[in-house]
Amino acid sequence: MKQKTFYLTTPIYYPSDRLHIGHSYTTVAADAMCRFKRLTGYDVFFLTGTDEHGQKIERKAKEHGKTPQEYVDGVVAGIKDLWKLMNISYDDFIRTTEPRHVSSVQKIFKKLYELGDIYKSEYEGWYCTPCETFWLERQLHDGCCPDCGRPAERVKEEGYFFRLGKYQDKLIEYIEAHPQFIQPASRKNEMLSNFLIPGLDDLCVSRTSFTWGIPVSFDQKHVIYVWIDALSNYITALGYLSDDESRFKKFWPADVHLVGKEIVRFHTIIWPIMLMALGLPLPKQIFGHGWLVLEGGKMSKSKGNVIDPVLLVERYGVDAIRYFLLREVPFGADGVFSNEALLARINTDLANDLGNLLSRTTAMIEKYFSGKVPAPGKEEENDRSYLEFCSTLPDTVEKHMDELHFSDALAHIWQFIGLCNKYIDHNAPWVLAKDEASKPRLGTVLYNLAESLRHIAVCLTPFIPAAAEKIFAQIGVKAPGLKTWESIRSFGGLKEGGTVAKGEAIFPRIDIAKEIESLETLQKGAGANPANT
Ligand code: ME8
Ligand code: MG
Repeated sequence: MKQKTFYLTTPIYYPSDRLHIGHSYTTVAADAMCRFKRLTGYDVFFLTGTDEHGQKIERKAKEHGKTPQEYVDGVVAGIKDLWKLMNISYDDFIRTTEPRHVSSVQKIFKKLYELGDIYKSEYEGWYCTPCETFWLERQLHDGCCPDCGRPAERVKEEGYFFRLGKYQDKLIEYIEAHPQFIQPASRKNEMLSNFLIPGLDDLCVSRTSFTWGIPVSFDQKHVIYVWIDALSNYITALGYLSDDESRFKKFWPADVHLVGKEIVRFHTIIWPIMLMALGLPLPKQIFGHGWLVLEGGKMSKSKGNVIDPVLLVERYGVDAIRYFLLREVPFGADGVFSNEALLARINTDLANDLGNLLSRTTAMIEKYFSGKVPAPGKEEENDRSYLEFCSTLPDTVEKHMDELHFSDALAHIWQFIGLCNKYIDHNAPWVLAKDEASKPRLGTVLYNLAESLRHIAVCLTPFIPAAAEKIFAQIGVKAPGLKTWESIRSFGGLKEGGTVAKGEAIFPRIDIAKEIESLETLQKGAGANPANT
């Protein structure tokens, strides 16, 4: 049987000197999803990368006294380091300055020109360089960009234009016929009523007033508009229009493009129209997630109020940060980042609920069974509802994950963790241990807890992969067959006699009041040197 495929992308990031926790939010979500799909049997292709062309980057390089290429090379190395630190399991990292991308984008542009969907004319209007977006006079707010509020620049230059208007009705029809195409649904309504129904103007897709971009192959004084260049990455990385299109044939159309809400417009209007014009199928879904904001508003490098993920990972470990990002905010909505909320999650969910379950279970197996997994005995009435809940884990987690509801998936797993802790209190193993006749029952209770921890660890693998491995190690699960999704479809996989060894706390408890103070001091120090985008 042919293996099912799954292709997911993140946006490609603008190379800036420091990525903040908001960028990690998208990437961590993408990573959890891709790990989940691999775990459940898919052949996954997970793409991320960097968006390196355009006037904004050209100017920034100049400020640094570097050529654009030198500038982006330095920054991209740092971005790759960050993804390594965040444990991001991407399959490919595309840079828009790579030859494989450049040549394919030139072919795409030429093809659209030859098809008559791109034509030459003159652009006269407004441009927001920080957003790399063209605006009409009537769209500006007091001469400023309606998206970011910064002053727009007057532009008058020869340009190529892309016939968006020609495809507007076809796109509206497609969106109406495919309710899963734009998610969450509120974003779909916004795109229809704000942009598509009022009507699309043709889009200027080349510039001549600067050079840092991909030249139009048949008219070298033009560089291709950076959004046409950037959006194409989703197919150039698969080898579209190259000598080897095998990856493209295998993985296109994408299953999910994961993007922040402010760039949904590019992904649900320009991108599908490009694909329609090229005669290619559209991605199955564009999911627009919300922003991670600080109490004072959106985190942004220009405001200097960024939260540095490296500092947090160094202090609390990568899994604590991954967990927080995926658990705290329902994916799709905006969420407030605060140190208090982060530390509360670490202490309550990770150190107390999960950490204590693991340490209590392993400590009792060491104490009462010399560190060997006891044999399970007869199931009792009071085990039943608990074991039934355990059996809901795979299907319920899968259902939430298929909707990118990371927080709900984790909430369900934590509901089970809570039940396990109650199961300990209810059965009071320390009382059973006092009476030799209760030893079989004690064995059953502790077996059930260790086996439950195995189910929990399998479910947690996509979210907090390193911690899941630590759980496996402490309960003595080595065989790969006991770490699979299939293996948690039934209860009882854990072998009796296996070695259990209580290790260090997987998430050490934090003294919150003290920690908040040190953390704020450190963050203020970092904020004094904001990266300049
Ligand atoms: O937009 N909270 O790149 P980018 C949540 N190059 N997500 C955030 C965030 C926050 N505070 N800040 C940024 C670009 N992001 C283009 C994309 S794709 C063909 C080209 C997210 O570096 C943001 O929403 O400005 C976006 O999805 C991603 O980081 C990259 O942003
Ligand atoms: Mg941005």
